[in-house]
Amino acid sequence: MNRVENLIGRMTLAEKLGQLTMTAAGMAVTGPIIAGDSTDSIKNGTLGSLLNLFGAEHIRQLQHLAVNESRLGVPLLFGLDVLHGHRMLFPIPLGEASLFDSEAWALSARESAKEAAADGLAMTFAPMLDVARDPRWGRSAEGPGEDPWLAARIAEAKVRGFQGADLRQADALAAVAKHYCAYGAVTAGRDYAAVDLSERTVREVHLPPFAAAVAAGVAAIMPAFTDLAGIPMSANRAMLRGRLRERLGFDGVIISDYNAIAELIHHGIAADLAEAATLAIKAGVDIDMMAGAFRRGLPEAVNRGFVAVAEIDECVRRVLTLKERLGLFDDPYRRGSSSESAAVLAQRRQSAREIAARAIVMLKNAAETLPLLSTVRRLAVLGPLADAPVEMRGPWPCAAERYSPVSVLAGLRSALPRAEILHAAGTAIATDDDAGIAAALDLCAAADCIILCLGEAAAMSGEASSRAHLGLPGIQRSFAAAVFARAKGARIPVIVILFSGRALIVPWLIEKADAVLAAWFPGSEAGNAIADLLIGRLSPSGRTPVTWPRDAGQVPIFFGERSSGRPFDANDRFTSKYLDVPNEPLFPFGFGLTYGQFGLSNLRLSTDTVVEDDTLEILVDVGNRGPREAQETVFLFVHDKVASVAPRKLELKGFGKINLSPGESATLSMSLQCSELRFLGVDLEPVFEPGEVEILVGPCADRAQLLVATVNLRLTRNI
Ligand code: NOJ
Repeated sequence: MNRVENLIGRMTLAEKLGQLTMTAAGMAVTGPIIAGDSTDSIKNGTLGSLLNLFGAEHIRQLQHLAVNESRLGVPLLFGLDVLHGHRMLFPIPLGEASLFDSEAWALSARESAKEAAADGLAMTFAPMLDVARDPRWGRSAEGPGEDPWLAARIAEAKVRGFQGADLRQADALAAVAKHYCAYGAVTAGRDYAAVDLSERTVREVHLPPFAAAVAAGVAAIMPAFTDLAGIPMSANRAMLRGRLRERLGFDGVIISDYNAIAELIHHGIAADLAEAATLAIKAGVDIDMMAGAFRRGLPEAVNRGFVAVAEIDECVRRVLTLKERLGLFDDPYRRGSSSESAAVLAQRRQSAREIAARAIVMLKNAAETLPLLSTVRRLAVLGPLADAPVEMRGPWPCAAERYSPVSVLAGLRSALPRAEILHAAGTAIATDDDAGIAAALDLCAAADCIILCLGEAAAMSGEASSRAHLGLPGIQRSFAAAVFARAKGARIPVIVILFSGRALIVPWLIEKADAVLAAWFPGSEAGNAIADLLIGRLSPSGRTPVTWPRDAGQVPIFFGERSSGRPFDANDRFTSKYLDVPNEPLFPFGFGLTYGQFGLSNLRLSTDTVVEDDTLEILVDVGNRGPREAQETVFLFVHDKVASVAPRKLELKGFGKINLSPGESATLSMSLQCSELRFLGVDLEPVFEPGEVEILVGPCADRAQLLVATVNLRLTRNI
């Protein structure tokens, strides 16, 4: 008999339920505090995993208790939210999505896994894969943006990066794809609120990233806190056992979100913990995070005859199998035994800096304000986010306190050692204190250039941080207006660095500024990365992974909308539009300027007729007419001209990148697996329909800027 079956055969019910239980070790600034009875539970074998702690030594001590002092010596599983870095932070996930670069997505996850595993951890509650089209939802900061195809590519890269080649390795983490499913569609963008979507939208938009994570071998999946059309995800048998396990073939662990099983009582579908635990285990949940519902509710559920011990065994089997796959039985101390050299840390810091720079999206650069001229002598670095290192971490700082992030001010000071750098915050992020404004304005007069650092506080996005107003908090708007007025009089350019966990709705700011960089929250190397772009050491290359609204009334806004029967026509009143705001966003999905000036021409396809198992090659010439070397990102969209289900206006199917020197041009090639032209037919099953499909290639999801070619889909190859 193998180890797992042998253990199950020897376990008491309490020990089995312990394996299905994860509790938090509280965290203090100096390290973890062991919550309440964890030590006793570990020793008596009634606790299988812990979250919210890190530190190789602390973890080793607890593991030692489990392995040496519990009856069966089953090792513990330690998990933490390692989303975009552990100690060294990369940009927040929404920022990382702006990279459009699978290797970079995988690399930051790999580096995070190495750090977290060196700290004793074996599991990360990441990647977060919730497609989100409503910037009010604060958790959009943690996710992949608005598009399912993009989210699926991020899913694959992140699973590969976190888990590495083999889960057994000392630097591999079990990834947990979350939050399954459709959490990003909470009502009105309000966190934890109800989700009610069509089955088609669930399958077309919200499932693909999870399907991609499963195909990539993700070890675990976390159901969302939310319901889906009345069935909370932690009790959603059709979605967990049906869709995830039976249809997608997922055989890993399903781990509940924090206290989510007990919250089935608040959802109103369970009367007590025994019922809640029954619903969750029947639906397919294996580990109960923090609700104590399995440990306390399942014995009663077994007594009442709701749940058979064999059903509990099935979950224990999956949990022990994961521990085995992680190599925990062979060597429970494998993680947390190595220390990293200074060279490795320096290399990681360099990666964090490059990735942060490449995640920043340049929204405006009027009259080539940027990069800064080398003749700049005196800079005024203003605003509440100019010298705010802690804010640079974003809403999931994890274990990052070891490194204080580099502020914009510090980054500019080290990049421009000979320039005079003046600084004033002017105001705080979110108060109405205007006492510092006059002093900040005084600095403007003497400056060659003003760097104005505005935005949200990190804690204004992330969990439980939805916002109804998506402008700048506090009195930043009036502060900025005063700076613009002062700068205009003296003809001083104003460069805005905008920090946020979402697309902030600030059209007035974009209009007034000479240049704007949307920096998201760039992580540990924030200021250095921003300085690299400002002084032209690197060209901006990030592209927005969300359609950027001009007005909150346009939300939800996304490029993959279906065509209307009455598409907008300026000359026809009865077409789809607002009376008071244009339909167009401020910036389309994929928008982002560089220091180059790119033009695309000569789109051509390898063939004009394809069948389902063909690969279509798409070629386009790209030229850089600008004065600097830069990287262009080219997107590949498709649009089915006539189909049995109303097609979306554009569907993303690929992207390519090309670096070009001034005056250089080259051909970029992208390929499309024609099976990707399948869609969910009227019966919601995939279908490949014959007919014409437009292939659209260009710099963003604005149809007017796309080159178009047409390909014919055939069911069989002509002989
Ligand atoms: C609640 C969040 O929804 C989830 O994303 C996270 O992994 C857990 N808390 C654990 O911190």
